[in-house]
Amino acid sequence: MVNDGWVLECIECGNRLDVDPKLFFCPKCKNLLQLLAPDSVLPNELFCDQFGELRVWRYRRTLPVSIKAEPVTLNEGGTPLIRSIHLSEETEAEELYIKAEGENPTGSFKDRGMTVTVTRAKESGAKTLVCASTGNTAASLAAYAARSGLKAAVILPAGKVASGKLVQAFVHGAQLIRVGGNFDKALGMTTELVSENDGLYLVNSVNPYRVEGQKTVSYELFEQLGRRVPDYVVLPVGNAGNISAVWKGFKELKSWGVTQRLPKLIGVQAAGAAPIVEMIASGRSQIKPWSSPATIASAISIGNPASWRKALTAIRESGGTAIAVSDKEIVQARMDLASKEGLFVENASAAPVAALRRLRRSLNKRSVIVCIATGHGLKDQDTIDWDPKSAPIAEDKKGLAKLILA
Ligand code: F0G
Repeated sequence: MVNDGWVLECIECGNRLDVDPKLFFCPKCKNLLQLLAPDSVLPNELFCDQFGELRVWRYRRTLPVSIKAEPVTLNEGGTPLIRSIHLSEETEAEELYIKAEGENPTGSFKDRGMTVTVTRAKESGAKTLVCASTGNTAASLAAYAARSGLKAAVILPAGKVASGKLVQAFVHGAQLIRVGGNFDKALGMTTELVSENDGLYLVNSVNPYRVEGQKTVSYELFEQLGRRVPDYVVLPVGNAGNISAVWKGFKELKSWGVTQRLPKLIGVQAAGAAPIVEMIASGRSQIKPWSSPATIASAISIGNPASWRKALTAIRESGGTAIAVSDKEIVQARMDLASKEGLFVENASAAPVAALRRLRRSLNKRSVIVCIATGHGLKDQDTIDWDPKSAPIAEDKKGLAKLILA
């Protein structure tokens, strides 16, 4: 049994339903469902130093799994919040931080949601877990499925996924299936197949358990900043699950009276895949999907974000915005993060820094800003414009000296 009192609520029509781990869409209006916590599981004491290590499961009492459930965990969460030196100077931002989510077990923020989702899936008797993915969800699912003893199948847009992420899914023993076309097509096919087959369990972020795990990044930020809510959280947006999760986390903190403040959320998309930016800029409340998204940031090459309504709510309610950055700006930001801050992140994860460069004049210098670096650079190397063979060879000490001391 799940923690008593949790309910599912439709984000659009407000329809309320009993918790069912396989129900992701409202039976009435087909929109997404979210999990609502009961008031009784929300102790203020949770957010104090004595409550265990800074990890996802530190916040167990805010998660919709049963008290008895044995978490399927790899010690996810508790990622470093690193104060920026170079970028702070450049943007004159007094307090600028990078949340290094690439430090999670499989190298991305996906692990936060996957630990909760796979724990819940196992509890509910699921056998085969599936996802469509631009790479990181696939790698994460593969690892947590391996850990739990469940089967995993990952459905990937052919030729559009960084090879490091494919290798991860392979070594963890998932079944890899490629689909001609883009991520949106892969997700559409997968969602349909799952709805017709009881034996399959979908772990994409339309699954509200993913959102529950991912919201813990907001709790962590609050704690790592010394019980402060940042003024801005800047993060990449693809399928829009994570921006929804971050907003849910902060809103919960406020609703429990842990804080009175909320951050402004800035969603960042690549210029070649920016349907949410377009929607926000035009003032519309309806997404217009992009049929051919294309960007070097393959993780967020998404034209029809499943959680766009949640993203719209998060951005509007928070008073934030959405901004598009070019591939060139993304690559520059990635190289600068690596060579000037010591942080190796993937293309998508550098997008917030590129956005900050654009926004610097409009943000108050005294703001506390957090950029979420969602994934590690090591798994996304195909697009780095460098040939290892271009490094010079030293045949002997003399040659070495000549090269170094030149
Ligand atoms: N950053 C990285 C590194 C990602 O892998 C993703 C999404 C995002 C940002 C955007 O998050 O979709 O919740 O808005 N990756 C998904 C995947 C789509 O399949 O790995 P989102």
